[in-house]
Amino acid sequence: MTGAFTVAIDGPAAAGKGTIARAVAAHFGFAHLDTGLLYRAVGAKGGDPVAAARGLVPADLARDGLRTLDAGQAASRVAAIPEVRAALVAFQRDFARRPGGAVLDGRDIGTVICPEAEVKLFVTAGPEIRARRRWLEAGGEAGPESYEAVLAQVVERDARDRGRADAPLRAAADAVVLDTSGMDAETAAARAIALVAARLQR
Ligand code: CDP
Ligand code: CDP
Repeated sequence: MTGAFTVAIDGPAAAGKGTIARAVAAHFGFAHLDTGLLYRAVGAKGGDPVAAARGLVPADLARDGLRTLDAGQAASRVAAIPEVRAALVAFQRDFARRPGGAVLDGRDIGTVICPEAEVKLFVTAGPEIRARRRWLEAGGEAGPESYEAVLAQVVERDARDRGRADAPLRAAADAVVLDTSGMDAETAAARAIALVAARLQR
């Protein structure tokens, strides 16, 4: 494929967005952008978040520690600032329309960044299930976090992301909703790949 083709994947924390996005990108040879990483990098920089967002460079996205639970909390705080979001729009839109296809995952891709995306997916799962996934990633019983603490963080972050005035987390009216609560990662990825394949054949 030579033209632009955008797959927008949104949803709450640990719904399985990244896993699906990577599988779709690998299957179709599309580029993938984890947009959460942009907000995580801004949150991790410290100082004035608006200046950090305006001055973001590729090396900022490769820093260690951006995937931690704390970095996720910091990301969601700076993500509520309209000037931070505005500073990151052009980069994401350019990425989305690059030739050869692109998959972007985040919170506002189908609603704000790419309302014209060819495929929109809203990936979700129950909060306890998502918290358990994050807790297992952090080491489970052997890790530093209790399940209850992870659940509280996930619930708090989702509430902030859903409740903010600018680009809140919500499904676009034309998004396909994929509830991964009872689904393993492979099954969820296969569903998404089938949806994209059907749209490409139209
Ligand atoms: O990107 P997002 O935060 O939405 O989630 P992820 O990083 O793709 O997935 C979070 C964790 O849940 C990973 O460890 C996945 O392997 C796991 N997962 C799962 O167990 N079942 C799924 N259907 C999807 C993801
Ligand atoms: O992987 P996980 O779903 O836990 O988080 P993430 O996608 O890395 O996003 C971290 C935080 O960045 C989210 O809680 C949102 O507050 C913010 N974010 C956003 O506002 N808009 C996006 N397109 C992506 C992330």
